[in-house]
Amino acid sequence: MKIAFFDTKDYDLPSFGKFAKERNIEFKFFETRLDEDTCGLARGFDGVCVFVNDDVSAPVIDKLYEYGVRIIALRCAGYNNVDLKACFGKIHVVRVPAYSPYAVAEHTMALLLTSVRRIHKAYIRTKDFNFSLSGLTGFDLHGKTVGVIGTGKIGKIFIGICRGFGMNVIAYDKYPDPKADCAYVSLDELFRQSDVISLHCPLSEETYHIIGEESIPKLKKGAIILNTSRGALIDADALLDGIKRRIVGAACLDVYEEETDVFFHDFSGHIVEDDTLARLISMPNVIVTSHQAFLTEEALENIADTTTQNLLDFGRGAHLENELCYRCGRVEDCMKERKERCF
Ligand code: NAI
Repeated sequence: MKIAFFDTKDYDLPSFGKFAKERNIEFKFFETRLDEDTCGLARGFDGVCVFVNDDVSAPVIDKLYEYGVRIIALRCAGYNNVDLKACFGKIHVVRVPAYSPYAVAEHTMALLLTSVRRIHKAYIRTKDFNFSLSGLTGFDLHGKTVGVIGTGKIGKIFIGICRGFGMNVIAYDKYPDPKADCAYVSLDELFRQSDVISLHCPLSEETYHIIGEESIPKLKKGAIILNTSRGALIDADALLDGIKRRIVGAACLDVYEEETDVFFHDFSGHIVEDDTLARLISMPNVIVTSHQAFLTEEALENIADTTTQNLLDFGRGAHLENELCYRCGRVEDCMKERKERCF
């Protein structure tokens, strides 16, 4: 099987190289992202392997289909960049539903601790032999209330970590899980009570700008916002305004609404055009990492393992355990639940 691999990063090569050899899959690694201009590179390939910022919209899908592509393998969990409806009946879509929820949950806590204990400032100071403690006063997490939005795989692990710190945990989920170790409340109640809010829900029409102009005035004064999920869950301009008005006490962002043209690239020495991002980064109480929450050795191994297994299953005509279709969760007689392909 020949697969065109888009948006290749150096960290992809060891793990995908290993599994490609073991499973006899031929990858052609392209540095460029998939979009309407680059999709011609996939001509003659059986499938494409894509990541979070590749453009898998309807025009791209139509062209891929015309070029003979029959499978899109996402090497990530989120799929908001794929038009599943446009794929239906033409190209199968598979993903990696879980590769290391620990990686993302642990990174979320790392960001929170960095922010509240001012580690980002202390690190730079001591590198310069400045041992002053001025302005480094933090606060205890113990006894504080964390509001978790989305109590799926990552949310649940983050809840466990917060419990370890002695935090009170409240949560909001559209589909509450009675087994989750938290008290479910309404969104408004969560906004009102939480000292820290962490986003672990998918990006959808319903969750778009869940933190935005409407919700920010409802927050507890000084609340810390953590986002390791998807950028557009937060309206970045409204967040900036909330920070300036001292409603939001701090923000830790691993994802950003307009990250596509910025994240994963080295812009040091260049002028960043995005004024909102530049202003956010200039704030002393904002920490930005560039979509790295997933980036652990364990996660990379699992991503390559599941992605190549998905491709292998497709190649031998088997049921696709990790297939996605626009009807997922919406139809009674689900083909996937019957262990058949979605079409
Ligand atoms: P999951 O599917 O296990 O959990 C998502 C949870 O969100 C579910 O409990 C679901 O019921 C809930 N949910 C769905 N719609 C909702 C709504 N409208 N309001 C509130 N909750 C809602 O997903 P998982 O694995 O925990 O991942 C969560 C998100 O983390 C993914 O959607 C992805 O965007 C992001 N992610 C980020 C990574 C990074 O490197 N920064 C890496 C992996 C995932």
